[in-house]
Parts: sequence; C-alpha cells; structure tokens
Amino acid sequence: MQHNVLILDFGSQYTQLIARRVRELNIFCEIFPYNNFPTDLSSYKAVILSGSPFSVRAEDAPHPDLSQIRGKMPLLAVCYGAQYLAHFSGGLVAPSDTREYGRANLSFIKEGEVFFDGVSENSQVWMSHSDTVKTLPTNGVKLASTHDVENAAYKIEGETTYAIQFHPEVYHSTDGKQILENFLVKIADVPQNFTPNAFVEEMVAELKEKVGNDKVVLGLSGGVDSTVAAVLLHQAIGPNLHCIFVNNGLLRKNEYESVLEQYKGMGLNVKGVDASARFLDALAGISDPETKRKTIGRVFIEVFDDESKISDEVKWLAQGTIYPDVIESVSVKGPSATIKSHHNVGGLPDYMKLKIVEPLRMLFKDEVRRVGATLGIDAALLGRHPFPGPGLSIRILGDITPEKVQILQDVDAVFIDGLRSWGLYDKVWQAGAILLPVNSVGVMGDERTYEKVVALRAVESTDGMTADWVHLPYDFLMKVSNDIINKVKGVNRVVYDISSKPPATIEWE
Ligand code: XMP
Repeated sequence: MQHNVLILDFGSQYTQLIARRVRELNIFCEIFPYNNFPTDLSSYKAVILSGSPFSVRAEDAPHPDLSQIRGKMPLLAVCYGAQYLAHFSGGLVAPSDTREYGRANLSFIKEGEVFFDGVSENSQVWMSHSDTVKTLPTNGVKLASTHDVENAAYKIEGETTYAIQFHPEVYHSTDGKQILENFLVKIADVPQNFTPNAFVEEMVAELKEKVGNDKVVLGLSGGVDSTVAAVLLHQAIGPNLHCIFVNNGLLRKNEYESVLEQYKGMGLNVKGVDASARFLDALAGISDPETKRKTIGRVFIEVFDDESKISDEVKWLAQGTIYPDVIESVSVKGPSATIKSHHNVGGLPDYMKLKIVEPLRMLFKDEVRRVGATLGIDAALLGRHPFPGPGLSIRILGDITPEKVQILQDVDAVFIDGLRSWGLYDKVWQAGAILLPVNSVGVMGDERTYEKVVALRAVESTDGMTADWVHLPYDFLMKVSNDIINKVKGVNRVVYDISSKPPATIEWE
C-alpha cells in the first residue's frame, strides 16, 4: 500500500475514528504511536496529530519531536495536537474557565479560508477538552471561534499547519468530514485512490510477489475476515492455498455442513475437520470461562498442527487479522488490559515455524466487507453476525455437555431464524442465546416441569467495544419465546437481556 497520511496517536479514544473518516474519503492512512513513528516520512503527504487524555502542561504528557514534520509537510493538529503546537511555539495553554465539552457552534469563521470551504457559520462541532488555547502561537491566525472557545481553529502563517480544538472525526461535528476533506484534498493534495477495487488489485499483486510458489495454510472460521482473506489469497495463488475449517462442536446448528458447502461453492480448496468429540472431551467438567477459552485454544492448535502438515512446502500461515487488532497491539498505552482472552488473536506457537501473511491487517471491518463484496462474496455471508471463536462454550454457563450444546443449538436456531424471517437480522449487530445453569419451575399441560432457563441477547454496536441492547418488538419476543418453549425439549423459560456494555459485556462469560 502506498503511504499517504500519517496519524500520530497521543492516546485519544477517538484516534481510530480519525482514521475511519480519512478512509471514508478513499484516502489511505496509518496510525502510529507518538513515541514510535517512522523516521523517514518522505513517502507521506500529510500528518494529523490526534487528541489525548493528557494536558500538554503535564510533565509526563506526550512531547514528541516534530521537527521533521512541522513546516515541512501539511499538518493538521486536533485538540491536544492544537494545544501542543501552541504550548511549545509561543502560545499559552491554560485550564479553560468555561465548559468545553460536548456540542458547540461556530460563531465566527474567517472568510476566504479553503480550510472552511463549504462549512457554514453556526456549524455544530464537538469539543472535549479541559485545557484551552488562550494565546495563539507565533504567526498564528485565528480561523474560527465558538461562543466559549475563542481559538477553536487557527493556522500558522507561512506553513501548511492547521489546528482545531474540536473533533472533526466525531459525527456530532456536522461538517467534520468536509473539514478533513478540505485539509487533505484541497490543501495537502492527497490522492483519493484508496478504493476496494484498488486494494484488491494491489493486494493480489503483493501476495503473488510475497508468497511466490509456496503453499499457504489458512484456518477458516465461517466469519467474514477469514473468508475474505481466503478469497483474496485464492485469487493470488489459487490451489496453493490450503484452507482448514475445524468443527469444534460448538458452532451453530448445521453451521459446519452449510458453511463447508458454501466454501466449496466458492472454489476454495477446503478441508473440513470434524473434531467435535476431541473438543468436547477436553472441555468436560470445566466451568471457568477463561479455562474454557484456553482449552479450546490449545485443542485448536493441536488439531490445526496435525492438519496443516499437508506437505513440507507449507511455508506460510495466513490470518484474518484486521486493523483494530494491529492498532491495539501497538497502542500508546500498550496492549489494553485483557478483560477476556480472545484466543484467536493469540496466534500459533513458534514451533510451527510458519511465516505469517495477513492480507487484511490494514483494513477496518466495514472495509473488509466492501472488499468482500468487490470479490463477489455472497452478501449473506458478508452480513453474518460476529460469532466468538470459542463458540457456544461461552454461552453455556457452567460446564459443557453434548446435551447442553444441542439444547442451545436448537434455541439459538429458533431465535436466529426468527430474526431473519421477521426482517430483523440485519438491524442487529450480534445476537445469540445463552443457556443458564439454573432450572426453574413451570407447568405444561397438567404437569409440573423443572427445566432450563435460556436468555436471549441482541445488541447494536459498531465495533463490539461498546454495545446497547436492541429494543426488539414485543410481538417478536413473544413468538420466539413460545416457539422455543414449545419446540426445544428441556427449556421452560425464556428471558431477554437488557444490559448494555459497559458495564455488562456482550457475551455472558
Ligand atoms: P464481549 O463479551 O467482550 O465481546 O463484550 C465483544 C465481542 O467479542 C466477541 N468475543 C470473542 N471472540 N473469542 C472471540 O473470537 C473470544 O474468546 C471472545 N469473547 C468475546 C463477542 O462475541 C463480541 O462480538
């Protein structure tokens, strides 16, 4: 990929959003931590400084050397970035006296500035800072103000340096994308050539070059990322790509057979491995969520190791890693504290000695979907809800038995089929059922029952980091609850989870 825009991360929660907005303009950009970015910037066309939870006045705040950037190439400084430039170049940054958090409106915009082309006075912007730029740096020219923030935007005379104290990347900044476009396209002259088609073309060529005639092995999960990675590689190296699809016995009902069929229909060279019994045996008697994940991770590696010895010519392991995982692992704060260990991010042990190829490592999830569509992958497959690697094991609270797996598969199928037939599936980011480790009393016919309780969960989200429960129609919940209790033996009660994340999580374990 050609380098275009470098985003220097000072640890803001919004840094990824800046990258997403820039990519929406079909401009390729990369995020680097402020304390570890490339020394040779000759291939970059512009730099953006992100916000930060720090105050520039604090001693331990990020204070990188920008001498290779400032004045040498187009620079846009956002929030903390804007304060950083002011603080170290003759301006004054101090705690603000008024509230500078949330929505505000531009009450002044300097006329004739390309930076604000197409942005009308009164445009809404999103502020989020406790310090403010009281005095502009040397050669600073005020470009915009809000009622409470005098220096909402400024530029440095004689340089292509622009600074804004509001966040253009947040949707609440109504013209934020326009401002980014003005800076990147009109001022910095960055090409808008990062499209799914261009990505496919470039990546296929890159993969051909990188992998040559070697054989590559790839573990398919049935999900979007591994599928798109496989199809890309297949375009590049054809039958030298060997895919393995493991049934861990914890997939959705009939998923193993139907997904395997679908993969074969796509022309992929796939080997299905039904290792259900091996996984379920290893999980017997284990109730602790993290031990379940680790056990599944271990058995997966064992199975994969056995199956990937297709021939000595296998030199590469392909993975469906995407950009948020990459950013996370190089973030300013270091890899974020593990709340749940996601085994499929951990990779394989060193002894397998395979080189790693990750064709999607620079893409966000929505970009992966668009690339998938360009590659002709079925829309139904690309629109599938995320499903955790450990599968139903973390939706069966307590220990796992084949009977419980079957009950949960049946309940889950009624729920998911229902969402589809009511036209609700695509309105939900992720949905599933959870088998609770309690029995409740019920009555069926004249008989007292004492059977299992299941919870249904449906959330809306954009990236799984935060989520809210979906207000599914009561009529739908009523129908699904009825169907589950009538059709699935062993269940006599259905509840609906109305917790958001945070403080809850999407999965129950
Ligand atoms: P939580 O429960 O952490 O889930 O709110 C966020 C997203 O991650 C998925 N998830 C997992 N995915 N291995 C995975 O591959 C795991 O161990 C795992 N745990 C949670 C979850 O389904 C949701 O999409």
